[in-house]
Amino acid sequence: MTRGFRLPERTYLPAIFDRLAIDESDRDEIRAAWPSPESDPMTWLSLERAYRTLVTDMGGFAPLELPGPADSSPLGRYFFAFVYLAALADVRRFHARRGISDDVSWATLSDLGRNLKRDRLLLGDGGLRTSGWLTLHFRGSIYQLGRLQFNRMNVRAAHVADAFREGEPALGVHIPESGPLTPEACDESIAQARSFFARHFPETPTRVAICTSWLLDPQVAEYLEPDANIVRFGRRFTLVGDGYDGDADVLRFVFHRIRPNIDELPQRTTLERAIVAHLRAGKHWRNRTGWLAL
Ligand SMILES: CC(C)(COP(=O)(O)OP(=O)(O)OC[C@H]1O[C@@H](n2cnc3c(N)ncnc32)[C@H](O)[C@@H]1OP(=O)(O)O)[C@@H](O)C(=O)NCCC(=O)NCCS
Repeated sequence: MTRGFRLPERTYLPAIFDRLAIDESDRDEIRAAWPSPESDPMTWLSLERAYRTLVTDMGGFAPLELPGPADSSPLGRYFFAFVYLAALADVRRFHARRGISDDVSWATLSDLGRNLKRDRLLLGDGGLRTSGWLTLHFRGSIYQLGRLQFNRMNVRAAHVADAFREGEPALGVHIPESGPLTPEACDESIAQARSFFARHFPETPTRVAICTSWLLDPQVAEYLEPDANIVRFGRRFTLVGDGYDGDADVLRFVFHRIRPNIDELPQRTTLERAIVAHLRAGKHWRNRTGWLAL
């Protein structure tokens, strides 16, 4: 049973904003756009619908997009943030039922704040313009375990290699932007994932972790030192398939820009220079998929 769409009590907001790592600027805009069924009856119905779509799939991990807002008013821009704020109580209950520690629970959910920051950086104003990624967090299917995030998933046709079969349970690996990707932190994180999922989700034993990222593009190693963190991270994985165009993702993840003029991009680091030199040479980056045995 799910309860209806209900936002947290406003007196709890400072504590919730802290836990979810939400910036001052987003806090102010969220407070200002705070909806009510009386003042925003149509949007309220849409919020209820999106909320229901999310929480009726609690524990699910298939890709999910939520029905969105009708406009780009402040309430429209923060529409999904309100859906996730309403789902906070549901996912916290799910985490508790699965015996997941508060530390892991809040570390995981604080990706909401990070994504709000990223949206502002990318689009110039505050909000949360896509829903898909955070449905993993707020359905209890992704967890931040040390440096990396891992989500429950099923192997899809595009991942199939000799090592595993389509449909078998696996873990997806994600790399949040939170400091260097040291091999020690990755080792520790992968070790945590092994025991965490075996303990809290014993119904889906997993043998492999799968990552799809520009970080796995072997072309990166043509520019960076062999002992660079990114190159060492890539070496953990066995690549499958040819991947797909990754130019937009590289630009988004490294420069936080959408369709930038490449002549105006900063050129401070080896990676920044590599990305631009590669594109100037008419070449393209690729998102590649790879797996590692758990
Ligand atoms: C993945 C990430 C943590 C790696 O950072 P790292 O551990 O510092 O990487 P490396 O040590 O291998 O860096 C090698 C070089 O690239 C530079 N570099 C790495 N990531 C960079 C970034 N995001 N922006 C600018 N330069 C970067 C480093 O400064 C270094 O260059 P230098 O020797 O001239 O200083 C970082 O790139 C990042 O936060 N990316 C955004 C998140 C992301 O892309 N996730 C994957 C999504 S699919």
